[in-house]
Amino acid sequence: MTSLLPQPRLTETAPGSLDVTPGGWIIGPPELVDAVRRALAVLDLRPAPGGLPDGQGPPLVSVAWDPGLGAEAYTLAVTPDGVRIAAGDASGAGHAAQTLRQLLGPEAFRSAVPRGTRWSVRCLRVADAPRFAWRGAHLDVARHFLPKREVLRMIDLLAAHKLNRLHLHLADDQGWRVESRAYPLLHEIASHRPRTIVSHYGEEEVFDETPHGGYYTLADLAEIGAYAAARGVTVVPEIDVPGHASAILAAYPSLGARPSEPHTVLDRWGISPAILSPLPATADFLGTVFDEIITALGGGTAVPYFHIGGDECVLDDWAASAEIAAYQRSLGLDSPAALHAWFLRALADVLATYGIRAVVWDEAFVSGSLRPDTVVMPWRGPGVARRAAAAGHNVVATPVFPLYFDYAEAASADEPLAIGDAITVDDVAAFDPAPASWTEEEAGKVLGAQFQLWSERIPDGRVLDYRAWPRGCALAEVAWSGGPRDPADLRARLAVHLARLDAFGVEYRPLDGPRPWQRGGTGHRRHRPGVIDVGMVARHLERLSHEAGSTRPSI
Ligand code: ACM
Repeated sequence: MTSLLPQPRLTETAPGSLDVTPGGWIIGPPELVDAVRRALAVLDLRPAPGGLPDGQGPPLVSVAWDPGLGAEAYTLAVTPDGVRIAAGDASGAGHAAQTLRQLLGPEAFRSAVPRGTRWSVRCLRVADAPRFAWRGAHLDVARHFLPKREVLRMIDLLAAHKLNRLHLHLADDQGWRVESRAYPLLHEIASHRPRTIVSHYGEEEVFDETPHGGYYTLADLAEIGAYAAARGVTVVPEIDVPGHASAILAAYPSLGARPSEPHTVLDRWGISPAILSPLPATADFLGTVFDEIITALGGGTAVPYFHIGGDECVLDDWAASAEIAAYQRSLGLDSPAALHAWFLRALADVLATYGIRAVVWDEAFVSGSLRPDTVVMPWRGPGVARRAAAAGHNVVATPVFPLYFDYAEAASADEPLAIGDAITVDDVAAFDPAPASWTEEEAGKVLGAQFQLWSERIPDGRVLDYRAWPRGCALAEVAWSGGPRDPADLRARLAVHLARLDAFGVEYRPLDGPRPWQRGGTGHRRHRPGVIDVGMVARHLERLSHEAGSTRPSI
């Protein structure tokens, strides 16, 4: 058994085996050779652009274009004479190399191996291609900042699981996380808060009285984008507007719907009424900031998507402002909800001038008319996902249940603090982003799925590891392979795969529960089982998502 994860489309074993030692030769077109060498850095493969030196045997790896293979598809043949890879693009070559890395065994997931390490790989043939084009992870770096080194490491882990989108939630009420040369108060003021709440829902408020913050320079962002692209991962930046705007307004209060009101970077969670004004000055500001981010990420085709949020907007201040109400009327719009959709559509029009497609959370779709090419992330469940698909929008499945990984894996006091419970590996593995009950046309609108790591209760990279894996492995199986044959099949492969993650240095959640030092203990990081039941939340949000104009879920 090869225990590959995600499961390839076709795996055929063959007689014999191949001995592999680091330092072997690789030949092929430079772009594909680079992709293989990056994924298999541990093998220290030596490229031979001018051909192999005289007297060498066959190369350890040969890689070739096969234009007949689709995007990200590959074939891999391990023979006693060497490894042959064919791919239609560099991503496919990278995926083939990741498959070979899994075949080598857990030690291939270390950053380096001792001299003299030898592997033996059983001969086989793999033919593989993804089920979905969008296989993603969402990192909320706003609620808790995640240093650049953690983001780069997450990109390596995404690539190891054939995941290909990194959605970076760069702005929220609790922090703004990217440098702006045009509006420097964003990183100078909006990137930090003096303290953070540590009590949970329904409890007396307690704060840690410890500053928290951080931001990526534009050069950091450029590095993240380039590092991701070289590994077949596309960064999808998000600036969440017009709500979730407390941090922006702490820096530039004049952009608010109540321009004379002061704001602070929030030190607590939940939905804030702070909202940007929809007047033209806001669009000008955002256009400038978007341009800085797009330019840092390499512009044009390097940034196919830009997320502009649209979720959980409290529109009361728009309705209460005579100036905004007059603006709404001048546009021929009959409600603040319609203005909400119009505002996001105007931003999407700006992005379209770069050839970039906007992505929004589903409230923007429920509010009114979006650009037809806007991608919808239906976080409030499959009902709104199907309606968005039926309306012609591409959708990326992001439902709270089972893809919000800030929920605990078990309703147990052994767990570290989570927002609620429970979402298990099996729940994720059973998820179908394009259910069989949908029409073919609706299902065809589903680009894929991604898991969400909202970080109110994820303070650092260690907790991030625990929340992300192995549920992220199950999401990779869903999005790449179309889901496991059955839960037992996935669990059997996971048992092998977790040894790979151990070697990589991932502090995942063991399948039978946390290690002693991963528990929440009895202090403020203890879990409160049953405080929020994800099933109840999902049903509540599903109901809300059917109410046109409802942009204020109140969980
Ligand atoms: C969301 O959870 N507000 C997208």
